[in-house]
Amino acid sequence: MAFASICWSSSLMPIFFAILVYFNVNSAFEFKHHNNEELVQVLMDVHAKCSNITRVYTLDEKSVRGVPLYVIEFSLRPGHHELMKPEFKYIANMHGNEVLGREMLLKLVDYLCEQWNARDPDIVALIEATRIHIMPSMNPDGWQLATDMGGNDFLIGRLNNNSVDLNRNFPDLDRIAFSNEENHIYHNNHLLAQVERLTEPIQPETRAVIRFIMQIPFVLSANLHGGDLVANYPYDESRSGRPNGEYSSSPDDNTFRYLAQSYSTYHADMADPSRKGCAEDSNDFGKRGGITNGAQWYSLQGGMQDFSYLSCNDFDITLEIGCDKYPPVEDLPNEWIRNKDALINFIWQSHIGIKGMVYNALTKEGIPNAVIHVRNITDHNAYDIEHDITSVHNGDYFRLLTPGRYKVTAYREGFLPNSKIITVYNKSGFPAQRVDFRLKPITVDYNNMDENFMSDVDNKEFNYYKSGWYGKHPLPKP
Ligand SMILES: *[C@@H]1O[C@H](CO)[C@@H](O)[C@H](O)[C@H]1NC(C)=O
Ligand SMILES: *[C@@H]1O[C@H](CO)[C@@H](O)[C@H](O)[C@H]1NC(C)=O
Ligand SMILES: *[C@@H]1O[C@H](CO)[C@@H](O)[C@H](O)[C@H]1NC(C)=O
Ligand SMILES: [Zn+2]
Repeated sequence: MAFASICWSSSLMPIFFAILVYFNVNSAFEFKHHNNEELVQVLMDVHAKCSNITRVYTLDEKSVRGVPLYVIEFSLRPGHHELMKPEFKYIANMHGNEVLGREMLLKLVDYLCEQWNARDPDIVALIEATRIHIMPSMNPDGWQLATDMGGNDFLIGRLNNNSVDLNRNFPDLDRIAFSNEENHIYHNNHLLAQVERLTEPIQPETRAVIRFIMQIPFVLSANLHGGDLVANYPYDESRSGRPNGEYSSSPDDNTFRYLAQSYSTYHADMADPSRKGCAEDSNDFGKRGGITNGAQWYSLQGGMQDFSYLSCNDFDITLEIGCDKYPPVEDLPNEWIRNKDALINFIWQSHIGIKGMVYNALTKEGIPNAVIHVRNITDHNAYDIEHDITSVHNGDYFRLLTPGRYKVTAYREGFLPNSKIITVYNKSGFPAQRVDFRLKPITVDYNNMDENFMSDVDNKEFNYYKSGWYGKHPLPKP
């Protein structure tokens, strides 16, 4: 595999090029179908107006036809992960002929900058608390083809210039997760290392985005599509292989349903039960809260959404934001009004649950790659959420959760595990509550430990330790 198996590994080659070219025209935002040059111009104009809080960069590979893949970042320290600040991303136009998301993200970029400069308290608070990455087009070649061909074909321009559907081109980690489940192996995260061979060559656009996902410790993301009106959440792939109608839940099903609703219910009518479905009458998503499990709608392999969740700590959903894949320019201002609150509210969701530091109790240093495991103890049917996340760069971690009561445990090889019982409330508009862990390094022979030393560790965790699990092996099902 050409990818490091660990997220945000600092040993990766730097993946971004600094953008040296500056465009100097400083114009007001206009609703239109921005071509690939105008797209860059919008990002540069915004950077000129909000230079302190933005950075424009490109991913390390270009599209098949050589168009750079641009991203703009908003944060107080552009270019840096800040301790305890969640990282968020939007990607649009992965299917080149689905262009509404591309224009909505360009408008969003302009809006964030304008409201920052106007000191809008909500937007200032959001940018101060979050590092936001926005990539308006993952498939500029498909966009060009769709546009050259008149822009209103259901399929022309969907694929990249090698005729590959980028949302089928990611390594299929669902199969690994499902096989682990069948074998009662509790291992459902950071699965890229387990990929033995790829069924299809990976396209440059996909490769660039995989490295992007691996490099930045994203907590929450969405991928904007068009052709329907619904927020779609993992898994996209069915367990049995059935093409549709099979609900394929992930261990974070409650959280994902909540996340999908946090878009659909803030959209003008995605969640309106009285609206008509886009195409077939069967897709009456409005009657179902404007959300769907991916595989229940239709099963797909190699999608970006499930890849993000199973390769990294990144909770990703797929947003179908309009029936019309390539709406006329006249519709764009109204589409912005329909999507604006949802786009902003969804970014705020990177602050649900808990976050904190995992420290070495002795040296007080942060511990990266510690495993954060959660058990839901809200009611008597307590159960483990079988998807662990890991601490990142300097020992900070982010664990999205819905309200409830949880037992959270931090593990790291060479340390005694540490557990805390917590209650999550999720107050809207506030950063996640902080829960830190201080892990004691193991300095004595654990087989001869005395009772006092073990007093704050319960037996189950100690047994995990003795079985030599963490960091090395999948955790056996309790
Ligand atoms: C950018 O930051 C500098 C230093 O904090 C400050 O002096 C300047 O006013 C800021 N500019 C804008 C446009 O916010
Ligand atoms: C690739 O791009 C060229 C130039 O735009 C275009 O003529 C051709 O149809 C494209 N091929 C595919 C498969 O998209
Ligand atoms: C934990 O369980 C409670 C009660 O069943 C539920 O409301 C909550 O969503 C669950 N949390 C997660 C993260 O699944
Ligand atoms: Zn699509």
